Amino acid sequence: MEIVTGGAGFIAQTLIRRLLEEGQDVLALDNLVRGSLDYLKPFEAHPAFAFRNVDCSDKAALSDAVRSIDLGPGPHHIWHLAANSDIGAGNADMTIDLRDTFLTTVASVELAQAIGAARFHFASTSAIYGDHQGRGLAEDDGPLEPISNYGAMKLASEATIRAAVERFLPKADIFRFPNVVGLPATHGAMMDFVLKLKRDPSRLDVLGDGRQQKPYLHVTELVDAMLFISRTAQDRYNVFNIGPKDDGALVSFMAKTVRDIVSPGADIVFGEGDRGWVGDVPRVSFKIDRLTGLGWTPTMSSEQAVVRAAGEIASALGAA
Ligand SMILES: NC(=O)c1ccc[n+]([C@@H]2O[C@H](COP(=O)([O-])OP(=O)(O)OC[C@H]3O[C@@H](n4cnc5c(N)ncnc54)[C@H](O)[C@@H]3O)[C@@H](O)[C@H]2O)c1
Repeated sequence: MEIVTGGAGFIAQTLIRRLLEEGQDVLALDNLVRGSLDYLKPFEAHPAFAFRNVDCSDKAALSDAVRSIDLGPGPHHIWHLAANSDIGAGNADMTIDLRDTFLTTVASVELAQAIGAARFHFASTSAIYGDHQGRGLAEDDGPLEPISNYGAMKLASEATIRAAVERFLPKADIFRFPNVVGLPATHGAMMDFVLKLKRDPSRLDVLGDGRQQKPYLHVTELVDAMLFISRTAQDRYNVFNIGPKDDGALVSFMAKTVRDIVSPGADIVFGEGDRGWVGDVPRVSFKIDRLTGLGWTPTMSSEQAVVRAAGEIASALGAA
């Protein structure tokens, strides 16, 4: 059984589709705090798919939800994607990332032990590195000094999984994601831009001066890399940056791309400073040599991923 926490979220939709296409049984778990049952509609009628509405930070509830399903003989894999994806909300209230980003990890690791899971896959993030002024970072570089509660709880989660590998987990993969774009958009700058232009087609206000530069990967490529690593990496504990080959695209490029699709006559009004919000890392760059060395290379650049996702999101939101 492939158990996907955060199963009603953005990235999970593409992961679940791929797992079902490969003939796997999938159990999606989510409390719908930010996800939506709409994203699971394509799988509802699939005989190999099941969903349970459950708070994944609640060990007992998680265990009950999983025990309500016949998991079959195994091997069982846990894909732990549940987390708080609203970084601003997490900075305003530390308990959000404690519960949704960290305690969901603790409970999922305990679940892995209880069901004897063969492999644990974790959706981590470039945010665990902190602000290194755009210096390209490899997996073993540091210091690891996250500047958001979200990044802090992701780093704590990685450490908890590492400790579980020492004790009982046969194998674990840590995927450090870049900014991921595509459908179904649940959050993020690109969706904000589309919605802002729908509200006011004459003007697009951008948080920060637009010179923030981030690596972007399309969700289809991200999931492809996750599956590739999980089938190919042989160590007990595998840590991989997943990203494009370039240093990223500018936020101003994203704003112009969305503007040109949704409302070509709109003025783009940039804010001040190089940070969109507290905890925003203005220049993110990390190396993917370990991943390319394993044999997986992205086909899209950051700018190509932005252009493709902008078109997809604008038409999904009825703005193109
Ligand atoms: N999207 C990105 O750019 C990006 C970048 C780096 C890392 N990630 C990580 O990838 C994973 C998936 O992100 P996403 O973009 O799909 O976000 P998302 O918000 O769309 O999905 C996360 C899901 O987790 C669920 N969830 C949160 N707390 C929960 C809880 N206590 N119990 C049960 N379900 C809970 C939410 O309802 C949501 O459906 C997350 O762990 C995120 O931190 C995403």
